[in-house]
Amino acid sequence: MTEELKTYAPPPALAATAHVSGMAAYEALCQEAENDHTGYWGRLARELVSWKKPFTKVLNDSEAPFFKWFEDGTLNASYNCLDRNIERGLGDKTALIFEADGGEVTKTTYAELLAKTCQIANGLKSLGVAKGDRVVIYISMSVDGVAAMQACARIGATHSVVFGGFSAQSLRDRIEDTGAKAVITADHQIRGGKQLPLKAIVDEAIGLGGCDTVKNVLVVKRSGAEVAMTAGRDLWMADVVSGQPTTCEPEWVEAEHPLFLLYTSGSTGKPKGVQHSTGGYLLHAALTTKWTFDLRADDIFWCTADIGWVTGHTYIAYGPLALGGTEIVFEGVPTYPDAGRFWKMIQDHKVSIFYTAPTAIRSLIKAAETNDTVHPKHYDLSSLRILGSVGEPINPAAWEWYHHHVGGGRCPIVDTFWQTETGGHMITPLPGATTLVPGSCTLPFPGISAAIVDETGNDVPNGQGGILVVKKPWPSMIRTIWGDPARFKKSYYPSELRGYYLAGDGAIRDAKTGYFTITGRIDDVLNVSGHRMGTMEIESALVSCTELVAEAAVVGRPDDTTGEAICAFVVLKRPRPTGEEAKAIAKQLRDHVGKEIGPIAKPKDIRFGDNLPKTRSGKIMRRLLRAIAKGEAITQDTSTLENPAILDQLSQNN
Ligand code: WT7
Repeated sequence: MTEELKTYAPPPALAATAHVSGMAAYEALCQEAENDHTGYWGRLARELVSWKKPFTKVLNDSEAPFFKWFEDGTLNASYNCLDRNIERGLGDKTALIFEADGGEVTKTTYAELLAKTCQIANGLKSLGVAKGDRVVIYISMSVDGVAAMQACARIGATHSVVFGGFSAQSLRDRIEDTGAKAVITADHQIRGGKQLPLKAIVDEAIGLGGCDTVKNVLVVKRSGAEVAMTAGRDLWMADVVSGQPTTCEPEWVEAEHPLFLLYTSGSTGKPKGVQHSTGGYLLHAALTTKWTFDLRADDIFWCTADIGWVTGHTYIAYGPLALGGTEIVFEGVPTYPDAGRFWKMIQDHKVSIFYTAPTAIRSLIKAAETNDTVHPKHYDLSSLRILGSVGEPINPAAWEWYHHHVGGGRCPIVDTFWQTETGGHMITPLPGATTLVPGSCTLPFPGISAAIVDETGNDVPNGQGGILVVKKPWPSMIRTIWGDPARFKKSYYPSELRGYYLAGDGAIRDAKTGYFTITGRIDDVLNVSGHRMGTMEIESALVSCTELVAEAAVVGRPDDTTGEAICAFVVLKRPRPTGEEAKAIAKQLRDHVGKEIGPIAKPKDIRFGDNLPKTRSGKIMRRLLRAIAKGEAITQDTSTLENPAILDQLSQNN
């Protein structure tokens, strides 16, 4: 860090009352974990999670890195999120405040959510879905979506939610890889005033082949518009649940039973099915919701993520419910009907904890600059007490705006670093303890042994950048990659790192404070608007357009709004196009990528070349492509390049 940044101490009232109150309390927890790692996690697992059969052993590391937590304990995640709250007298408390795209609000109490969950659970059982089966959920933000996840958990089926923005091809790949027995979807999704298909995409995905394991598709009615239904396979959810009892005995599963699979991008073309456990995952979901957000009985919590991403799993479907909280489930988008939507909803629902992504903040800053009426100052945001950020680094300017204009200067911002694989927060401020520095995710969550090392696993001193690792296992860690344990080991526990978990990010600790700042991925993974994407995945999508594309290389370049932007360099099977022809082909390729993966993966820039910069041994020199994508002059050594002239050609804009 070159310039001195401002610091923000916790508000005194919060520091006095928070679940983790003051820095000394934070340090005491870290010390407890340091002295007795398994004792610490065992204590919390007993305090926060209700077990059917208590565990006797906290950690089994005999098959490291395939760690097992609370192995001989049994529990049910849905019991913990629903029944338990009702037993504690919260049956009539609002669990979910659903706001539809068009603004209609529906409140669901804990008792109602349990009844709905049980009916879906019984419905699934009536179709033969049982413990250990996989269920793919392809649905937008909805009470049904949350209830469907809870219903799977209730019967011990492993859910795999696929974000509604993924294409038929991506959905097909995930259905095939999970071997799902059922798919839960809706007729349509409604976002930004537009009706978009879901069921039709499920049909297309199954039609692509390889989905023979799917016996039933359950369709929730959202738009009410007509959709094709395949006899014998497709059923309306309303018909499946009608007449089903509103109670359902939970299936008590072992702590290691896979609660869900969630696909994420890595450095190869094939997304990985990250497998999470029930016990350890639920513990960290509940614990981080309690400590990082300081969730209290009267809070209105709003995490704006979609349930298709891990943030929506941990901080919508599980964490807040495990604590008996009240939360918002929002169907729409931040810019509809205008870019004041978030601020209006915070005002209307008196949201007290608000958790969103830097990319959303940056786009709303832009919107407020061009249209003052959507500036947060026009809304009453006085209910807010804690703000959160997730998914990518938050630049200090956006941090300051968020703090000042949204938080009124009163609310700590918890900049939470974590990943699909980590299940919950790893490095984050605690709002009543940590002094904040904009742009830094500050310090590890108590019990998380985050560290920065070099390529061989040696600690690097503060002030010097390196590779982010986690030295000891933790309860909510990824258990394996579904169907590919070898890839799990290779990706996260490479032998040269002495058994440390490799996050895939670079980081640096401040020389004075020891605060962590994430410097970005060290692998071929991009982060576009907080969405994670592999460059190889996009490259394979491009080259799968076989009639046009001979070769493609994808890199990221910094972007003011989306964090990173996708930049593709493409060699066609025909002479290099220019002008209008280049534009038309670029559009065609973008659409092709949209079809192969989903709109989020469409490259922002596509540049055509006669070939790509390669070494004499044929390796594409991506660092040169990254420089070109950024518009930088090439100052690097190009002497190993086979074809130096290509650099000039690619540097020209098409
Ligand atoms: C990658 C994980 C975390 C849930 C949503 C994304 C980046 C995430 C931060 C942050 C800097 C961050 C990292 C990480 N990232 N949070 N607070 N500061 N970078 O989960 O899709 O698995 O992506 O997102 O690069 O590795 P994901």
